[in-house]
Amino acid sequence: MRIDIFTLFPQWFGWFFEQRHITNAMQSGELTVRLLNYRDHTPLRHNQVDDTPCGGGAGMVLRVDAVCAALEAVYDAPCDRVRNRRPVYLLSPRGRRLDSGVLDELGDGDGFTLLCGRYEGFDERISEHMASGELSIGDYVVSGGELPAMVVVDALARRLPGALGSDESALYESFSDELGGELEYPQYTKPAEFRGWRVPDVLLSGNHAEIEAWRKRHTGAPGEAGD
Ligand SMILES: C[S@@+](CC[C@H](N)C(=O)[O-])C[C@H]1O[C@@H](n2cnc3c(N)ncnc32)[C@H](O)[C@@H]1O
Repeated sequence: MRIDIFTLFPQWFGWFFEQRHITNAMQSGELTVRLLNYRDHTPLRHNQVDDTPCGGGAGMVLRVDAVCAALEAVYDAPCDRVRNRRPVYLLSPRGRRLDSGVLDELGDGDGFTLLCGRYEGFDERISEHMASGELSIGDYVVSGGELPAMVVVDALARRLPGALGSDESALYESFSDELGGELEYPQYTKPAEFRGWRVPDVLLSGNHAEIEAWRKRHTGAPGEAGD
C-alpha cells in the first residue's frame, strides 16, 4: 500500500517515521509513505501557497492553483483527474469520521493520497474538483492535517503483517472481527496484587475455558465502559 501525503510541514513526520511499527511496516515492503511538499511545486512567486480569504476574515487559505500544481507535478495528470486513478482525501474537521469501518475501506485498496490543510483550511474548489472525499479524526479542530494523517497511517500500519511484535495483537483488539466489533476486555499484568488491588482470580487460574468465558463477558459494546 502506498500513501502519499501532501503537506506544508513534512518535518512533522520525522519522529513518527522512527517508530518501530511504522519502520517494520515500511521495511517489510507492505507500506510506502511519500511526503510531498506543496511548496516544492507552486507556480507562485516566493513559494506562496496560500492567500487571504475572499470576503475577508482572519487567517490564510490554501490556494487552488498551488494544490493543483502539486498534484499535477507528482501524478503527471490534470489535477481534477488524479482522483480517477487513486482516492484523494482531504483532511478536514467536516469530513467523514474515521472509524474502524472507514479504515477497512482505506486498507482495501493499493493506497491513497491525503491532503493536509493548515491555517483556515482549503479553498473549497480543491474539495469540489480534486478530492474523492474528506476525512475527519473527530469533532474538534487541530492545527493542521499532519496529526490526522499520522492517525490514519498509524491505524493502518498496525494492521499490516509484521508491523507489531505479534500479528495477534492487531487481530484481537477493540473493534476487530475477532472481538465481534466490540471493545477489548480489561487487561492485567504482574504483580498479582498491588496495594490491595488484586488481579481477578480467574485470570491467574490457568483455566483457559474460564479465562475465555470471563473475557467474553467483559468484552463491551463500543460507547459503553466495560463492567
Ligand atoms: C486549523 S484547521 C482549519 C479549521 C477550519 N477553519 C474549520 O473551522 O473547520 C487546519 C487544517 O487542520 C486539519 N484538521 C483540523 N482538524 C481536523 C480534524 N478534526 N480532522 C481532520 N483534519 C483536521 C485540516 O486539514 C484543516 O484544513
